[in-house]
Amino acid sequence: MNIVLTGFMGSGKTEIGKRLARRLGYTFIDTDQLIEEKTGKSISEIFDKDGELFFRDTETQTLEKLTGINGYVISTGGGIVTREVNILHLKKIGFIIWLRASPETVYKRISAETHRPLLKVDNPLEQIKKLISQREQFYSKADFTIDTDLLDVDEIIDIIIHQIAGRLKRGNEPPRNTA
Ligand code: S3P
Repeated sequence: MNIVLTGFMGSGKTEIGKRLARRLGYTFIDTDQLIEEKTGKSISEIFDKDGELFFRDTETQTLEKLTGINGYVISTGGGIVTREVNILHLKKIGFIIWLRASPETVYKRISAETHRPLLKVDNPLEQIKKLISQREQFYSKADFTIDTDLLDVDEIIDIIIHQIAGRLKRGNEPPRNTA
């Protein structure tokens, strides 16, 4: 059993993913981090030097390598769902949870940050609104959706654990990671 977190930039995938993994004794991985390790470059550098298409191809290749894993929480890049092949692959990997956040919430959360190439524009809020409205159709293919706007991290984790409890009980749980 693996849990896949999807959602727009700033929806809390990384923080929630890390803490959820710790609570379940699962291993946390982040597709952006895997891409940075594979290429030896930061996401911003990849966008600057190699372009978005190269990034998207690397993202798909990285995902394709994630087969046969068990006991992982996987945080994904916000745009990973824009390729149908990626969604199909994520469905095979695990239970997909969409952490939905409104454009205003995203804007509030990310306005102090500078490492997101797609939001380095004159009007980030407009860009966030545009991208979210383009992507909602893809995010909505998730198995379960959580509206995160009014929830804190602990509440979101509790909802996820409640939601997957049945699956864990059915004997799908991996050996506890004691680290
Ligand atoms: C992207 C989201 C980023 C990263 C890249 C592109 C996107 O990941 O993959 O900058 O297209 O939404 P986070 O959602 O983890 O910030």
